[in-house]
Amino acid sequence: AKDGYQLWLSYEKIEESKLRQEVGQLFSGIYFFAQNPTYDIIKEEFTRSAEGFLDQKANFLSTRDGDFKLLVGTRSELSQYLGLSQQAEIKNLGEEGYWRGPLEINGKKVYIITGNSPIGVLYGSFDFLKSIQMGEFDLNAENSDQPKVQLRMLNHWDNLDRTVERGYAGFSIWDWHKLPGYIDPRYIDYARANASLGINAVSLTNVNANAWILREDFIEKVKVLADLFRPYGIKVYLTARFSAPIEMGNLETADPLDSDVQAFWKERVQMIYQHIPDFGGFLVKANSEGQPGPHEYGRNHAEGANMLAEALAPFGGNVIWRAFVYSHEIDEDRHKQANLEFEPLDGKFLENVIIQVKNGAIDFQPREPFHPLFGAVDETNLGMEFQITQEYLGQATQLVYLGPMWEEILNTKTYRPGPSSTVASIIDGSDSGQKLTLMAGVSNIGTDRNWTGHLFGQANWYAFGKMAWNPYQDAESIASEWIKLTFGHEQTLLSSIQNIMMESHEAAVNYMTPMGLHHLMGRSHHYGPGPWVEGGRADWTSLYYHKADSQGIGFDRTSSGSNALGQYAPEIVKEWSDPTQIPEKYLLWFHHIPWDFQMKSGKTLWEEMTLHYDSGVKTALEMKKNWQKLEGQLDEERFHHVNQLLSVQIEEARWWRNACLLYFQTFSGKPFPDEIEKPE
Ligand code: GCU
Repeated sequence: AKDGYQLWLSYEKIEESKLRQEVGQLFSGIYFFAQNPTYDIIKEEFTRSAEGFLDQKANFLSTRDGDFKLLVGTRSELSQYLGLSQQAEIKNLGEEGYWRGPLEINGKKVYIITGNSPIGVLYGSFDFLKSIQMGEFDLNAENSDQPKVQLRMLNHWDNLDRTVERGYAGFSIWDWHKLPGYIDPRYIDYARANASLGINAVSLTNVNANAWILREDFIEKVKVLADLFRPYGIKVYLTARFSAPIEMGNLETADPLDSDVQAFWKERVQMIYQHIPDFGGFLVKANSEGQPGPHEYGRNHAEGANMLAEALAPFGGNVIWRAFVYSHEIDEDRHKQANLEFEPLDGKFLENVIIQVKNGAIDFQPREPFHPLFGAVDETNLGMEFQITQEYLGQATQLVYLGPMWEEILNTKTYRPGPSSTVASIIDGSDSGQKLTLMAGVSNIGTDRNWTGHLFGQANWYAFGKMAWNPYQDAESIASEWIKLTFGHEQTLLSSIQNIMMESHEAAVNYMTPMGLHHLMGRSHHYGPGPWVEGGRADWTSLYYHKADSQGIGFDRTSSGSNALGQYAPEIVKEWSDPTQIPEKYLLWFHHIPWDFQMKSGKTLWEEMTLHYDSGVKTALEMKKNWQKLEGQLDEERFHHVNQLLSVQIEEARWWRNACLLYFQTFSGKPFPDEIEKPE
């Protein structure tokens, strides 16, 4: 059934005869140089794909004397067949890199898939299968690649009762109740999907953590998952609740400098490693949105993180400490709080600590400028946190491809530590020089049959994996890969779907929060517009962020306002301080602008804003029109699924536009331009 369960691993029948013949040949004589659990996985993947591609059995040879066509093994296992220069080339690809291509053995041409470790070989095998599925496999070409970021990680915000914070695709796939005895086959398919993208770490539990996960009976359940994921190259992390020593250790404090607290964590960690010898470590949200942390005891983030890091270090574990910290008790622009707390601690964190920073300083808004912590510290490991689940970007009813948004962030110049540094060159260590590197994505996965609720949510999972592997890869080429793997490589289908995807993020920004507006959504559920939201915590209201009044709109974060802008490099401060120089997409993020301010187009701010909102709706209408042209060119099941959701998206786009424009009009007092559909 075309229900999306297979993700990008559906291994559809190869129609093209030359490719069929070549692949058929390779699958008729496969030799593995050794036996291990990872190679077993590759064999299963070959078996499955040979059936799908060719309706044929993959033939595994038990000796090397047979008629082998496809050789699979590590560089050292294959060393007798590789020349010295080839060995050196492969060695340079590191632990997780792979090389695949043709080789001559005793005058006979064979095809090899190799790497420096079985996991490298696994990645090479998935790449090989992917190239076949995309119709791009070339028997004579050499392909190699290696990841640029060490920890490529999914963060599940999954609660132990299986609800998922900000999850829109059903319940958590972790069935804690039935573990450890029952293994849901879905765990394996999940691991396959991740490994096929090179994702090598997963944090299983919500950052708003429940200390129970650290109980031994839960660790026995986690162990089952860790054992399953290990041959796929995936390490398991857990979220650690900072107050666990009080909640489960019967202590009166969780003060990181208290020796009983330190002993509690050391014992816990030891117990975990007895069950899971390669446990990844802890992900921690501390002193943010009411979560406990070291500040309760007058200690700082470094003292908190290092205490956990010391417990984990003997076993090779890491602490991933989040920079998403803010408190309503601090009377300061929320935008500034992370830098204020973390910059003074530069150089104070242990080596196995990495600070996980959201892409922007507020909270995964439809568009944010990059977080000012990137580039502001140079002796602290910094990792990226993207949100794959579409909390603020249409949840599971809207098609919004996030690749372009992530690409925009990764490509932005930070001007620090080097003059040409970008966010990507900081987080991959190439400019920052940091040894531990990380890209994390908040998962959009749940129990829905198609995993992600909206079929196109799969594209965001896919794009995240690709960008974590290579933060320089462009969103468009990733979209094209995903489409080919999901819908096939027929040209018109490919280009139509690609257009829809590539326009979708800008459209959502336009109908939700154009020109640097942010945090306008409904309170708490964050679904739909709520620019009028006020009352309660100032930093959870909308008025705090848009500051609309009869004069104008926008948050002055320049030196005449909160000066959050001052946390960026001087080059950026200079350019963005000037409302005529700053990219218009960030204008109202940093400036309070009069309604009749003249924009680059010659129009006033008010007119321009109405046009942005309207154009977002127009693009949503276009997207649906273009999708409808594909009727009959793909299966009905997926066609209707997406088609219905696009109608919902149009409704929601109008809802956003109308609500925001009618509300802002109460401040601007100006009419709507004739060329837009009148909000009502
Ligand atoms: C957002 C989100 C919360 C989440 C938080 C976080 O604020 O709405 O549900 O807990 O981010 O990243 O910790």
